[in-house]
Amino acid sequence: MIILGVNFFFEHSSVAVIEDGKLVYSAEEERFSGIKGGKRYSPFSVHFPYKAMYSALNHLDLNIRDVDAIALSYEKWDHLKGLFSKRWSYYDDYYALRGLFHTKRILCSDYETLQYMSDRISSSDLKKVPLIYFDHHLSHAASAYCYSGFEESLVFVADCCGEKSCTSLYIGSSAGLKKIKSFDIPHSLGILYSVVTKHLGFDSFQDEFKVMGLASYGRDTYLDAFKNIITFNEQGDYKINPANMFNLSAYLGPARKKGEEISQRHMDIAKSLQTVLETILLNLFSHYREKTGIRNLCMAGGVALNCVANGKISDAKIFDNIFVQPAASDAGTSMGAAALAYFKLKGKMQISFDNMYLGTEYSNKNIEKLITDSKLKASFLTDEELIDEAAKRMAAGQIGGLFRGRMEAGPRALGNRSVIASPAPTDMLERINHIKGREMFRPIAPIVKEDRFDSFFTGEKNQYMLFTCTVRPEAAHLIPAVTHVDNTSRVQTVTETSNPFVYSLISKFESITGIPVIVNTSLNFRGKPIVENPTDAIGSFYSSGLDFLIIENYLLEK
Ligand SMILES: [Fe+2]
Repeated sequence: MIILGVNFFFEHSSVAVIEDGKLVYSAEEERFSGIKGGKRYSPFSVHFPYKAMYSALNHLDLNIRDVDAIALSYEKWDHLKGLFSKRWSYYDDYYALRGLFHTKRILCSDYETLQYMSDRISSSDLKKVPLIYFDHHLSHAASAYCYSGFEESLVFVADCCGEKSCTSLYIGSSAGLKKIKSFDIPHSLGILYSVVTKHLGFDSFQDEFKVMGLASYGRDTYLDAFKNIITFNEQGDYKINPANMFNLSAYLGPARKKGEEISQRHMDIAKSLQTVLETILLNLFSHYREKTGIRNLCMAGGVALNCVANGKISDAKIFDNIFVQPAASDAGTSMGAAALAYFKLKGKMQISFDNMYLGTEYSNKNIEKLITDSKLKASFLTDEELIDEAAKRMAAGQIGGLFRGRMEAGPRALGNRSVIASPAPTDMLERINHIKGREMFRPIAPIVKEDRFDSFFTGEKNQYMLFTCTVRPEAAHLIPAVTHVDNTSRVQTVTETSNPFVYSLISKFESITGIPVIVNTSLNFRGKPIVENPTDAIGSFYSSGLDFLIIENYLLEK
């Protein structure tokens, strides 16, 4: 049985494929369209992720005729009710209504796009595949619980909003997902974080992680001011004053203009917001852990990408196990909707899940042709030779690109579409931020061999960079590039099986430098999504300050 999960009504349009109970593919449309988020910002519009869908069928050598059902991560009738509550502008209403009533007709009538995909998707075949709709927050919840491997779990979802819910709590079991608590519009932690992000001069729905990074430099001096905007109690209940939330200047002072210098006041606002969020989450989790007796926690929704809060939740040891869906934003709802469809058709909640290397891949043959056609100079090396060469170059202070294997699903590069470097030079953070066109206050993250984690860090070991850890004081001077101002680090662990090439590369780097840690940041440059294909990787390499690029078994240098 083949289920194609699709998120397109919300942000981060994406696809996921479950084949006979196993997650076998997932990718976001942005990687193929080059537009971050997959479409221009317009919620509830119909921009189907055709390119990502085609890439999935191509990778799996399937035709749309082979797909048993398309699972969508929104519930159209609940959305319709939301429209009558006049939440959006007329413009958005129009597109939402059009999408709600004519979904299938719109999907099958983009003839211009479909003509390029006719070997795998024809309009007439697409029309025959049944569509199944699932509530947005339920899809988020399934994206975490169904891939967690837990028998029973509390499942937490928080984002800007779904059809109605902004924060939801479920209990997940083999019988399904049962909602036990909901905070509805306008009580949205995601929207609060987004409006403060905008107030601080960043892009809302994009740059929330920058505010999280900025918080490390701040103090809690705005906690009283935030009481006008959000109140909460020890049971984890919270309430937002929407009028005040959209009038932040009255409580937090004037908004920062884009490009304006960042002051201590901006950092203090960021820190106070972060503290409010963490306090609410810790209260909520402590209360429901005690009330239900459930010892596992699953998390999804954009708020679950707040790895600083996740680190605090882990450190508080409220739960025995925590699983955060790595693609916690709306992108992950395609995985959730697909899992719900599988449950509906086959009665099984848990989906087999290996790792997040779920996207496209390119063979050496593809790359050889590209290199020859482009008249580039490149060396073909064995894996061992590549590892030697890259480790030596990193130890000498060079910065490289690494493009190998299947592209990662979710927002993070995990060693297959990454920029890599040594964490030891004190100027490495500045050099990489400069090359990538990032603000200088933003930290970069490390990959560490899991078996050496404890020598360098304390905190939750995670393969997907979802928890902020603390750098051991005795190790901080060895890895200054990845030690944030507050001695934290968003660590990715790697094992011999999770990513054999990266593990061996770090081992070689360790044999030269004594440090089992390398820098890992995504292979993308200012404003662009992570590169998906070799042409983009090579183009980025030659238009950036990278010193070398590994692309499958080819080494390119300048
Ligand atoms: Fe969402």
